[in-house]
Amino acid sequence: MRKVLLLFCLAAILTLAGASVFKADSASAAETLLVCGVCDKTFYKTAERVVREMGLTDKVTVKKSSCLGACSLPPVIEFRGELYVSMTEEKLKALLAKAYP
Ligand code: FES
Repeated sequence: MRKVLLLFCLAAILTLAGASVFKADSASAAETLLVCGVCDKTFYKTAERVVREMGLTDKVTVKKSSCLGACSLPPVIEFRGELYVSMTEEKLKALLAKAYP
């Protein structure tokens, strides 16, 4: 019984500590732009360059991902929970310009 109570208290403490610590971090954390690295091997580098050239490296982190589920329409990215297919450099620039006016 003591172990259960101890685990409950530990979980509560971690939850409270996590809530304050992680919320503070997430306010300043960069958003993630996922690029499928499976169906298109080159767009990841393009996305990194676009983010860098637009001066958004403190706001957007480009990460290579596994399959995003739209394999027949590469390049595929995911940003803010939305999936974008047949991406081009121009489409990505427009998306980021709209996201960060
Ligand atoms: S392999 Fe790229 S979206 Fe499936």
